[in-house]
Amino acid sequence: MENFSIVIFGATGDLARRKLFPSVFDLFRYGHLPEEYRVIGTGRRDLSHEAFRRTVLEALRASPGAGGFDEEAIAPFLRRIFYVRLDISEPEGYHRLHREIMDASGQSGVCTHLLYYLAVSPGLLPLIVRNLQAAGLGGKNLPCRGWRKIIVEKPFGRDLESARALNAAVGEVFNEDQIFRIDHYLGKETVQNILVFRFSNGIFEPLWNRHYISSVQITIAEDFGIRDRGAFYEEVGLLRDIIQNHALQLLASVAMEPPVDLSADSVRDEKSKVLRSIRRHTPADAGTAIVLGQYEGYREEKDVDPRSEVETFAAIRFFVDNWRWQGVPFYVKAGKNLGETRTRIVITFKCPPQNFFGPSDSCGYTANQVVMTIQPEETIALRFGTKRPGEAVETDPVYMKFDYRDSFPGEGLTAYHRLLLDAITGDRMNFIRQDSVEHAWEVVDAIRHALDGRHPEPYPIHSDGPASASGIYG
Ligand SMILES: NC(=O)c1ccc[n+]([C@@H]2O[C@H](COP(=O)([O-])OP(=O)(O)OC[C@H]3O[C@@H](n4cnc5c(N)ncnc54)[C@H](OP(=O)(O)O)[C@@H]3O)[C@@H](O)[C@H]2O)c1
Repeated sequence: MENFSIVIFGATGDLARRKLFPSVFDLFRYGHLPEEYRVIGTGRRDLSHEAFRRTVLEALRASPGAGGFDEEAIAPFLRRIFYVRLDISEPEGYHRLHREIMDASGQSGVCTHLLYYLAVSPGLLPLIVRNLQAAGLGGKNLPCRGWRKIIVEKPFGRDLESARALNAAVGEVFNEDQIFRIDHYLGKETVQNILVFRFSNGIFEPLWNRHYISSVQITIAEDFGIRDRGAFYEEVGLLRDIIQNHALQLLASVAMEPPVDLSADSVRDEKSKVLRSIRRHTPADAGTAIVLGQYEGYREEKDVDPRSEVETFAAIRFFVDNWRWQGVPFYVKAGKNLGETRTRIVITFKCPPQNFFGPSDSCGYTANQVVMTIQPEETIALRFGTKRPGEAVETDPVYMKFDYRDSFPGEGLTAYHRLLLDAITGDRMNFIRQDSVEHAWEVVDAIRHALDGRHPEPYPIHSDGPASASGIYG
């Protein structure tokens, strides 16, 4: 494998500490990095290489990654970590970065392979790419054979307009095939398995349409609040943080057509078509199809406006207006400080045409379901009705269950590990293309517009969200 350097912007932040360094450590331990690779962290703080390595060591002790904390591997790993003080808005820092890259490669910095990871607020992106370009570290028109890739964190923009502006700014410095827009959900084994489950089994796909499916429910619930990320959450809110990306990406994986082949663009073409087909909400349907909530106590959180109207919960009924899904409701619910932490997709099938068995409404609770739990468990369950033992002929729901951890114990990579590896090898299937980003913003912008300033409803901590949310199930 040819040598390359990973340059992390925001290397002292939460994401870098909890997810990126543990994943790079795993890449190192599993032999996915070349001999002379380097990881260069940047941030505003004035740290020596040694002081920065100590912060990485502490981060790894707290979050050791999938492979656990490995004392023997840690010293050689830390030796390949470096730090450059860099304020994103100041050009000199980028020249220091250039020099650090040159020192390491022993050649002109522009010829080396570089993977940039932007673990900073996406609003800082235009500044970063412009300054990289000015320091000779941009992606286009490289004078020699080195490659450049840039990984950009979600949310990509705040709305359609800003997403387009961001893309135009990044597009001036990097080609589309060098840009990797990450949504870590797409790196999860259970999410990637949605495609495999649907398209490698002959029995589900023929039923996977409006003729046999009565509804799809997608739930992304967390039993904790915003922790200490008040400033970030006030800027973003749940619609931008979860619905625009994770929730709509899950919806697209469930609803997409089979791709022509497994190339990145064939798969992303199909997902993009689904997002384009989602019916945009209007003020006329917002009252019955959308409920936003805010958990009680949110306004007392650190760095939160005491009069904040930012939503921490959303329940939304979507329709996908295409041949396959016409009329099938997709219920999406997501929130903070709910009763449990769980991401789950439930596909409910229609009842048989006649109900022979009691109790009389039994199809309501014995209707066939495919239940995909994305996290914390990694399971797929099939629900069906079966005869309850006894004299009466009555049905009860039972489940057949597959659990990743039972069938494949100890296997699997974390989402960031997998996606970093994909970016290094240039596989873009699980990164979001700009057209999908824009369609998803169209959906979210329509929701915001349809709500026309409606306030989020308060809900008690560790509840199911506002009571009115059940209204979206019509
Ligand atoms: N945290 C997560 O679990 C998570 C999950 C998914 C996506 N994300 C996304 O990842 C991004 C980063 O999130 P985070 O939680 O890591 O944020 P964070 O904890 O606030 O960290 C922000 C980082 O950016 C650096 N930074 C900010 N302004 C800078 C400037 N002017 N010059 C140089 N460095 C600057 C900070 O460095 P210094 O303060 O040291 O200078 C810090 O390292 C966000 O877009 C977020 O949406 C985060």
